[in-house]
Amino acid sequence: MIAWIGGRAVGYDDVGEGDVVLFLHGFPHRRSLWTSQLSALRDRARCVAMDLAGFGESAGEEVYSIDRYADDAAEFLDYLRIDRAVVCGLSMGGYVALSMIRRHARRVRGLVLMDTRAAGDSPATIEKRREMMRLARDRGAESVADVMIVGMIGKSTRAKCPEVVDMMHGMLSSAPVAGITGALEAMLSRPDATPTLQEIVVPTLVVVGEEDVLTPVHEAEFLHQNIRGSRLEIVSGAGHVPNVERSAAVNHLLSEFVASVVLS
Ligand code: MLT
Repeated sequence: MIAWIGGRAVGYDDVGEGDVVLFLHGFPHRRSLWTSQLSALRDRARCVAMDLAGFGESAGEEVYSIDRYADDAAEFLDYLRIDRAVVCGLSMGGYVALSMIRRHARRVRGLVLMDTRAAGDSPATIEKRREMMRLARDRGAESVADVMIVGMIGKSTRAKCPEVVDMMHGMLSSAPVAGITGALEAMLSRPDATPTLQEIVVPTLVVVGEEDVLTPVHEAEFLHQNIRGSRLEIVSGAGHVPNVERSAAVNHLLSEFVASVVLS
């Protein structure tokens, strides 16, 4: 579906009824990253997945930032007349979820931080992102997908499920170049979210694939140690996208967590 917000298109899916879970994808994904979660959770919650600006069916921004994505998410909740949601963000989507805590805390009823981190970029990471921007502009999204795909998927999934690798490679390859470069600019300029962790007072689930090499387990442990009352779940046999690689296990965790937030 498409929402027109302030004259700009936002692609989204909205299924199920009741308490709301807002799903925010990572880089360079689109909302179909969450297909399995929407199917599994729609009987117990209203599941809303949006394309971040410049990805999927969403229009791009003039200036990209993680805070702008967070403001877009809050405006999107306004559009759907949703007051509060459990916000579930993967990787870059987790950066956006933490920005929502900074800028729109009242809208966040619970938090799922999946394969993400609090810290901002190091100078070396910023330089790598600038290289990736050049690659995207010069050689297109498929070259970015070729570089990223190994880190995106855990070694067990790569060995056992080549169809998952192909599916994710297809998703990465189809990302618009302007969305890719915009998101890279947004990520490299984002603030360190470590101080924000102390501000989190809503129930929080931290999830990470055991084989994640992009946002490794120690990043999730840091989140868990610094977010009061949070729960940490390490998904074995999965890399950076455990919701795709081990969807049944992640769906079970999410389903339990959403039920607990509703009761809290
Ligand atoms: C993502 O999956 O969103 C990215 O790996 C995040 C990042 O590059 O920091």
